[in-house]
Amino acid sequence: MNDIQHHHAELLCHEVVISEGLCLLFLILTTSAATAATASVASTTALDKMSANTANSVGDTATCTTSNERKKFLGANWKCSLETVEQVDDCIFQLNQLWESLPLNEKDAVELCIYPSYCFIDRVRKGLHNKNNNIVVGSQNVYDATGNAGFTGSCTPKMVQSLGGTNVLIGHSDRRNALGESNALIAQKVQQCLAVEGLSVTLTIGETAWQRKTGRALSTLYHQLRVATQSLLVNGGANANNWHNLVIAYEPVWAIGDGATPCSPTEAARVHSALRAWIARRVSPEAAAACRLVYTGSVNAQNAIEYTSLDHVDGSVVGRAGLDMVQLKSIIQTLAASSSAAE
Ligand code: PGA
Repeated sequence: MNDIQHHHAELLCHEVVISEGLCLLFLILTTSAATAATASVASTTALDKMSANTANSVGDTATCTTSNERKKFLGANWKCSLETVEQVDDCIFQLNQLWESLPLNEKDAVELCIYPSYCFIDRVRKGLHNKNNNIVVGSQNVYDATGNAGFTGSCTPKMVQSLGGTNVLIGHSDRRNALGESNALIAQKVQQCLAVEGLSVTLTIGETAWQRKTGRALSTLYHQLRVATQSLLVNGGANANNWHNLVIAYEPVWAIGDGATPCSPTEAARVHSALRAWIARRVSPEAAAACRLVYTGSVNAQNAIEYTSLDHVDGSVVGRAGLDMVQLKSIIQTLAASSSAAE
């Protein structure tokens, strides 16, 4: 290890120690607050209270979003599962039937984002019956290209916006691990997407089985988050509006796909609390309160309630369950129920 690597490793360790210490403090605060809370505010998190107190004590008039005000988010990542227009049209037909069968309060409670491949974004957006804009269409990726440069074959954030896409999924483990995307590239994509009006980002972060086994789960996540959001940290990162446009999807890589073991809800709760505490500390309590954190990895109709009922989990991104309308409907209803339970 050379001096620079050594220094970097030291900094990382230092951050993990501090972060995990603050996490502990955060969890203690959460626990004591929960004990003291009355039934009517039992679901309000300690962080939300901290953020409200901070805003009041410094006379900050910015509206602090509480967990109740963060709309539930459900992403359906179709990956490359649908390869023909016939398959896509069939899925659109089923989605429309599903959506029409839901009562208004359930539709209003959840933002459903469908991620088709680039080729089908336009077709899906036009095909969905979506009067209230609660189903949005996103892109599974963009390249870090801007117009008029030598990026043959790329899709820019502006192209997604022009097709009516409103969200871009960035940093999925398929792209990080199988396609070799670096944290630096992911950071550029986040910055470019958020610079385009009307585009929000779902940033996926997650540790591999090996990183977890070697005790580096949280440090890996903090590192991915820090690099990917560096463009949001300028000016002290105090602009909570940018964080409002960010959904952070925690995706334990070891919990995804066929045969994977899902991450236990207890562990998911620990990680989501740690991530929100990190944002509160590194950016601001307002940013932490505004940003939606969602869990992804083998979520289905049976286990959705275990994740969506957790304090710091604002929804989910699903792969397989997003192509199965019975499962998808059940997950939407679970999310809607957890949203009304929090009110
Ligand atoms: P899964 O996929 O829900 O099928 O595990 C999740 C994802 O890869 O986004």
